[in-house]
Amino acid sequence: VREPDLAGRHVVVSAGGTREPLDPVRFLGNRSSGKQGYALARTAAARGARVTLVAANTHLPDPAGVDVVPVGTAVQMREAVLKAAADADAVVMAAAVADFRPSEYAAGKIKKKDGQEPEPLVLVRNPDILAEISADRARAGQVIVGFAAETDDVLANGRAKLARKGCDLLVVNEVGERKTFGSEENEAVVLGADGSETPVPYGPKEALAETVWDLVAERMS
Ligand code: PMT
Repeated sequence: VREPDLAGRHVVVSAGGTREPLDPVRFLGNRSSGKQGYALARTAAARGARVTLVAANTHLPDPAGVDVVPVGTAVQMREAVLKAAADADAVVMAAAVADFRPSEYAAGKIKKKDGQEPEPLVLVRNPDILAEISADRARAGQVIVGFAAETDDVLANGRAKLARKGCDLLVVNEVGERKTFGSEENEAVVLGADGSETPVPYGPKEALAETVWDLVAERMS
């Protein structure tokens, strides 16, 4: 049994994938299941933390003892994360958040017009939640962790993303057949703003979650 090393701490975890609606029946989305974020929430609760889990479009049972805040879009996720982060010791953004959303929402279902070419889809930028909470910390000493799912030049892209987002740790996972999106397993390298690199071998998402909390606990003031 693990030490309750997160007792007395409040941690916020985001999970799942945002959906950006086009009309009442369609959305732009991604393949996140929420499993990695839920594993982070479960393991933090088991280590004694009070956990707020901001969950976007997941279909997983609520982890016991965890405060689950369901959201749909990136804008809703931003609001829920900022609210929960106000008194949090750590925030871990495992969610896949859409960078863009359709510029307009059609109140009625968009119809296919006979003989007409489709209209181009116009997108606008979503808020970058991770960059925002990292630049404007709600509390001194708050530890902020991002995730990045990459398909190529994984470590170089990860380092650049860590610097751009301004977080303390970035978990870089390579998109692959039986890891990252949707699977029970993952494999990652956790990059630290201090230059550290912690490889986590292929295994259950809980194992990666435990390593993330080890690294967060070391950095908590
Ligand atoms: O849910 P699962 O099926 O278990 O899959 C887990 C996962 C693959 C979704 C997860 O491990 C993961 O990698 N999540 C991040 C996915 C990603 O590619 O993120 P990104 O590179 O678009 O964003 C980088 C970071 O910024 C992330 O922490 C993201 O939450 C955050 N972000 C991104 C865009 C945005 N507008 N706001 C953000 O806060």
